[in-house]
Amino acid sequence: MPSISATAPAKVILLGEHAVVYNQPAIAFPVPDVRARVAILANPPGKPGHVEITSRQVQLQTSLDVLPPEHAFQRLFTAFQRETGLKQLPAMQVTISSEIPVAAGMGSGAAVSVAMLKALGLFVGIKFSNAQLAAMAYEAEKAYHGNPSGIDNTVIACEKPVYFKKNEPITFLTLPSDFNLLIAYSGIPAQTIATVNAVRAKMEQSPVQTGAIIEQIGTLVRQARVYVEAGDVASLGRACTQNQSLLMQLGVSTPKLENLVNAAINAGALGAKLTGGGGGGNILALVNPEIQVKVMDALYQAGAERVFPATVRKTADYE
Ligand code: PMV
Repeated sequence: MPSISATAPAKVILLGEHAVVYNQPAIAFPVPDVRARVAILANPPGKPGHVEITSRQVQLQTSLDVLPPEHAFQRLFTAFQRETGLKQLPAMQVTISSEIPVAAGMGSGAAVSVAMLKALGLFVGIKFSNAQLAAMAYEAEKAYHGNPSGIDNTVIACEKPVYFKKNEPITFLTLPSDFNLLIAYSGIPAQTIATVNAVRAKMEQSPVQTGAIIEQIGTLVRQARVYVEAGDVASLGRACTQNQSLLMQLGVSTPKLENLVNAAINAGALGAKLTGGGGGGNILALVNPEIQVKVMDALYQAGAERVFPATVRKTADYE
């Protein structure tokens, strides 16, 4: 049998991370040019049910059955079998190759999950809806931190800009124009679970003060939605920078991230902030195309390890 493969994009959270865990809205964009890919090869000599998984990026070579039940891949295959009613998996070799940096706030885990589910679906002759993909990938997200908001798996499965609020129907955003982003990796791996737990501890210690920051982020996201849909990049840039100060108050930023944010703004970016869990990982900067190269240089000079230019295309280009 030939190999079957599928891909899924990276994502960035434009505004609203952390607050989204506490039922505030957040805005996220897919990054279609940076992708995870999963190839599946039928493995007839293998015993039925034997699944071999390889990922060079994270030096993983394992068979599924030795992974603990709480592992993301176990959760994913369980969700897949539950969804399809498939009692026995065919023997297969699964190869993951991803361009998305791991532990950087770009949704690499969710992208691998969605690409794997799409490939598994093709392998057994089922085309899942985006909602099914998002729901199954959510099961794997729970392995990364206990109470994920669901934003990563949603934006990645749907591959469209989303305005996301936990437990509410997804709203897709209409972008009247392209948005040009730079995503700069600080070189420090981000542990989403650590910053999510730190925010929870802060919430328990000082609920009024922390709750007020979360509320302010929510208000900013609601305003930012209007700017996104109006193509008002200047106001959106300012909202991103305001979101960064609120994230600093939440304690999830770091001096290195702040350094990168300041470098981008001083070089002419319209706004900048950390993106994802923080504590390391990436910042994003919103730029006009003519300033992109200058901001990119400034980010490298300020110590960015890698800078991705990412154009989020106007919505008409998705259909
Ligand atoms: O670090 P990432 O890209 O997985 O983003 C986490 C976003 C948070 O809001 C911090 C957590 C969540 O579950 O939404």
